[in-house]
Amino acid sequence: MGNGLEKLEKLPRAILAHTPTPIEHLPSLSVKIGGAVLYVKRDDCTGLALGGNKVRQLEYYVGDALSQDADTILITGAVQSNFVRTAAAAAARYGLTCHIQLEERVKSTDALYRDSGNVLLNQLLGATIHSYPDGEDESGADRRVHEIADDLRVQGRRPYVIPLAPGYPPLGALGYVIAAQEIVSQLTAIDREVSEIVVASGSGHTHAGLLFGLRMLGSSIRVLGICVRRDSAAQELRIRARCREIAELLEVQSRVTDADIYLRDDFLAPGYGQLNFPTREAIRLGAHHEALLLDPVYTGKAFAGCLQRAQELDSQETVLFVHTGGTPGIFAYGAQLLEGQ
Ligand SMILES: Cc1ncc(COP(=O)(O)O)c(C=O)c1O
Repeated sequence: MGNGLEKLEKLPRAILAHTPTPIEHLPSLSVKIGGAVLYVKRDDCTGLALGGNKVRQLEYYVGDALSQDADTILITGAVQSNFVRTAAAAAARYGLTCHIQLEERVKSTDALYRDSGNVLLNQLLGATIHSYPDGEDESGADRRVHEIADDLRVQGRRPYVIPLAPGYPPLGALGYVIAAQEIVSQLTAIDREVSEIVVASGSGHTHAGLLFGLRMLGSSIRVLGICVRRDSAAQELRIRARCREIAELLEVQSRVTDADIYLRDDFLAPGYGQLNFPTREAIRLGAHHEALLLDPVYTGKAFAGCLQRAQELDSQETVLFVHTGGTPGIFAYGAQLLEGQ
């Protein structure tokens, strides 16, 4: 068994992200909230069509698609999915056709939610849009997207489905195994020890990839995942499975233990894609004090968790928040974000 890096380097990869993304100190907010010193990893700045974490993940999916000579990318996600938008952008960049399926996971009739933000960008990027009206139904949505792929094959196309549900090799997580290396070398270069990294935990590719990558390098930095889609108990099973799958993919022994999987779901309510008061406050704090633009679905919730955690630690410790992007969501939730202001 190797150390994983040889295998990682052999896997097909399409370069899409602007990296390394910066790591920045958040001096005003660190003083304002008290507790640990705050830093941010600016993965909202990965570049492709407003960036975000999914750009790093797509490098491996699009690489795989191109190596299979696909001519069409298919993907499913929530109406305001950032993954879908960046997949449409990656397809445009590589001259591939893109079909996207938008799932009605969030009950919203708000015109901004339905037409602005990521939805607007999907159209600009030239994707063909399908609707999945059945609400939260991960396996049903996945089945449907494979049926669309079958229809496309009948028409002579060569589709590649980017999976989100469990049960597929976690290619996307590899983008964050690489990001872990990037973070460790950046922290070494600025001579800053970080005790904890905080990140949104949804499909779990980002969280699991980072955790796996850090442990693979021998780093013991804690990784706190803030649940944005399902509660801690369910998410723990996902992260454990994803780490196991990454080990299989890279043909290495995983160094991630069950004790490494650390999650909080305090900011999930009332559910995926639905804003709550502490998240709105965290978004305001980030914007007012650091000009950090956070979104209501992912990074706002994760940042609320990050601030809570930083307040539990002392000023000798440093917490690094991974800003995973989601910028277009700010416009889709504009009316709700400004409520009470
Ligand atoms: C902006 C943003 N942050 C975080 C996440 C969660 O990442 P993951 O699905 O890898 O857990 C997503 C997922 O769509 C996202 O769009």
